[in-house]
Amino acid sequence: MLEMRGITKRFPGVVANDDVSFDLRAGEVHTLLGENGAGKSTLMKILFGLYQPDAGEILLQGRPVTITSPTDAIEHRIGMVHQHFMLVPTLTVAENVALGLPSMRRPFTDLDTVSQRMVEISDQYGLTVDPSIEVWKLSVGERQRVEIIKALYREAELLVLDEPTAVLTPQEVDDLFVILRQMTEAGRGLVFISHKLREVLDLSDRITVLRNGVVTGTTVPAEASLERLAEMMVGREVSLAPDKPPVATGRPRLVLEHVTVIGDRDTVAVDGVDLEVRAGEIVGIAGVSGNGQRELAETIAGLRPAEPGSSVQIDRADVTTADAATTRAAGLAYVPEERMKDGAIGEFDVGENLLLVNHRDPSFLRGGLFDFERIRLHCQRLVDAFSVKTPTLQTPTSSLSGGNIQKLILARELDSDPTVLLAAQPTRGVDIGAAEYIHGQLIERRSEGVAVLLISEDLDEILALADRIAVMYEGRIVQLVDRADATREGLGLAMAGAADRSPG
Ligand SMILES: Nc1ncnc2c1ncn2[C@@H]1O[C@H](COP(=O)(O)OP(=O)(O)O)[C@@H](O)[C@H]1O
Ligand SMILES: [Mg+2]
Repeated sequence: MLEMRGITKRFPGVVANDDVSFDLRAGEVHTLLGENGAGKSTLMKILFGLYQPDAGEILLQGRPVTITSPTDAIEHRIGMVHQHFMLVPTLTVAENVALGLPSMRRPFTDLDTVSQRMVEISDQYGLTVDPSIEVWKLSVGERQRVEIIKALYREAELLVLDEPTAVLTPQEVDDLFVILRQMTEAGRGLVFISHKLREVLDLSDRITVLRNGVVTGTTVPAEASLERLAEMMVGREVSLAPDKPPVATGRPRLVLEHVTVIGDRDTVAVDGVDLEVRAGEIVGIAGVSGNGQRELAETIAGLRPAEPGSSVQIDRADVTTADAATTRAAGLAYVPEERMKDGAIGEFDVGENLLLVNHRDPSFLRGGLFDFERIRLHCQRLVDAFSVKTPTLQTPTSSLSGGNIQKLILARELDSDPTVLLAAQPTRGVDIGAAEYIHGQLIERRSEGVAVLLISEDLDEILALADRIAVMYEGRIVQLVDRADATREGLGLAMAGAADRSPG
């Protein structure tokens, strides 16, 4: 149904798509796989009329077409579910589906028809959503269903789903895949965008891999493996399952007792969390983000107050009410989720960010003045040791890639010789190579007797690294298991709240 030939798209300083060819048959799922920045979204935004290519052509059913806007694309029966949803939260589901339909020029007239047709589509695909509910009241998974219904309502025959699983729990992913399968069985063609290898192998009929804007190959799941796909994405061999030597655990170094935290919306974000992390172990906190993980991390790090009755201890020191600097002095290293907000300052250069937390270190002073040569050597040593790819120490940090900024933060934090390492989403948005490196560092610190608390939405990451796994849901730890007893399914159910069905 679709052929894209020799597509090239340049943005200032980057070739996002370099002579890319891609095709799609009716009834198949053709996956676009690639790391962040590989050019997947760009290629599909060209198909959807959001960007114009610099070169190349698009054929639908063998006929060349020009698509200059999403309206054009929709007329060609192309639908797109974007990485970031485009719904209006204050409108109802039906109103959102109706938005922009030609028949809606007279508003309010057609809403009943829209609702009715919506219900038919929902029934056909098991996409249950109440048309009369306002979008802000829906879960992320439900919002995604609305986007899919919206595309189906416009009779899309070719549907692009841009990283649709990024925000879903494992069960929601399974549900989505069932729906997608029904759509291909009905003869539709699907372009599925993802960087998650396991699910790509699960769902795809064909897989095309992009790296730095170039197609590195097209394959089918029967001939691919996780390792082979990773290699095509990264351009070299990568180890997906890090080696974890056995380590005898020691005494508890991070102790949380009844930690309760009020979030930004004045509601209880963390609700009586008890947890211990011992020397030499990695405890993973799994969960869909927004269930209190960020607030918990900020509280441990001294960036957000805990409610009375809470207790946070680091190596037996009570840091419940301590500020960030005191908590750090007690032995905490913190790799925050919000890299550019809490971890590094974009306008500062690489060297300055490496000194951010220890610029008062007496070893950097000589006669009361900064010893710049000593500081430079210190920063260069960290950059080298942690393989931070930066042209110079004076390069503005904001111009580094996500993976290199993350390595920079890790370098600085681990240099302080922590006893407790708190890492929140340490590899989110980071390329596989950098992720591999960061994982290796966490494991090394564990071997050295550091207590590591790893907060991650990526269940594969938790399963690969953690010795014990806690699942957070609605501010509480609803499950705590040894890695050996953990199953993907059991954790997934807990992440969806199924292990905690208390009323209300
Ligand atoms: N609107 C834009 N302006 C400038 N650069 C862009 C724009 N959109 C994407 N890019 C760049 O193009 C490259 C490919 O991006 P993208 O297609 O979003 O990758 P992916 O979806 O695979 O993560 C990246 O280097 C990105 O920074
Ligand atoms: Mg993208």
